[in-house]
Amino acid sequence: TQTVLSGIQTTGGMTIGNYIGAINQWLTLQQDHDCFFMLADLHAITVRQDPKTLRERTLDGIALYTACGIDPTKSALFVQSQVKEHAQLAWALSCYSQMGELNRMTQFKDKSAKNQNNINVGLFSYPVLQAADILLYQADKVPVGEDQKQHLELTRDIATRFNNIHGDVFTVPEPYIPEFGARVMSLQEPTKKMSKSDENPNGFIMLLDEPKKIEKKLKKAVTDSDEQARIYFDREEKPGVSNLLTLLSVATGKSIADLVPEYEDKMYGHLKKDTADAVVSMIEPIQQRFYQIRDDQTELSKIMTLGAEKASAKAEKTLKAVYDAIGFVTP
Ligand code: TYM
Repeated sequence: TQTVLSGIQTTGGMTIGNYIGAINQWLTLQQDHDCFFMLADLHAITVRQDPKTLRERTLDGIALYTACGIDPTKSALFVQSQVKEHAQLAWALSCYSQMGELNRMTQFKDKSAKNQNNINVGLFSYPVLQAADILLYQADKVPVGEDQKQHLELTRDIATRFNNIHGDVFTVPEPYIPEFGARVMSLQEPTKKMSKSDENPNGFIMLLDEPKKIEKKLKKAVTDSDEQARIYFDREEKPGVSNLLTLLSVATGKSIADLVPEYEDKMYGHLKKDTADAVVSMIEPIQQRFYQIRDDQTELSKIMTLGAEKASAKAEKTLKAVYDAIGFVTP
């Protein structure tokens, strides 16, 4: 069986973009892969976090992954900071990463432009930690959205470089990016990625938004203003409509090709209404399970302990191989 690793930062909940771009793939892969799913709290502190809020969000994350259908007895569901090898491998790999290549990372450029008073070293070396996350588990596949492609390329470069010097220590991973939904767009500016850091909350849907709010946001979604208000899929010409079709497709499980003919003679309003209904039906049961699990501290602790144990077992092995290859002496 092939191994899968992926993660989401613990910064302020999950958007429907995170769900569609990432978690939805995880659920499929979980069925027949050896899976490691991680809450990236070490990555989260590259932006200043309030300790109490960070703690809450980590627990929210465990509950939310579980509510989405990640099965902690099947997959390793764990918190990054609880497996010490991530930080250890990140240090070693930082000595095999070049300033120049990190300087080219678009996420770093975006984030440092947005937050000029805290361009910390962690923000710069963020992709090295991400490479460590992936390589520690010898992952074959990394399910992510489109925006993580560049980080995955870098991970492959670092792994290949290390292997060329020290022998085949690391599996060189492949990105696993969905055909539809790899880039869920903002509801207000459909040429921009949907992001929870958007100033306009109408641009994104959170997984824990109340159904009424979801309906409102989708009703207000920007559609495309061309001469005929026709409904068809074309990311360039009809970014708003195509985004809604993507949401509808994932939420109903129907393919875009099957959906489009159904809307040939309908109006934008129909599409918005149907998308809202479908998204709410998809999300409501997740929300119900979330609130049940979130209140059960003992259960959350159990899940985290089990996950950290499973993850550590694999991580320890890889780190030992790396330390041996580098020439560190072990007692
Ligand atoms: P993060 O937390 O920004 O996002 C988590 C996942 O959600 C995907 N995503 C989207 N997909 C489609 N449409 C969108 N609008 C959208 N927004 C976000 C992201 O592509 C990602 O898959 N660096 C990572 C977290 C991470 C990680 C890792 C991922 C840390 N270590 C190791 C994979 C492997 C990040 O910031 O994701």
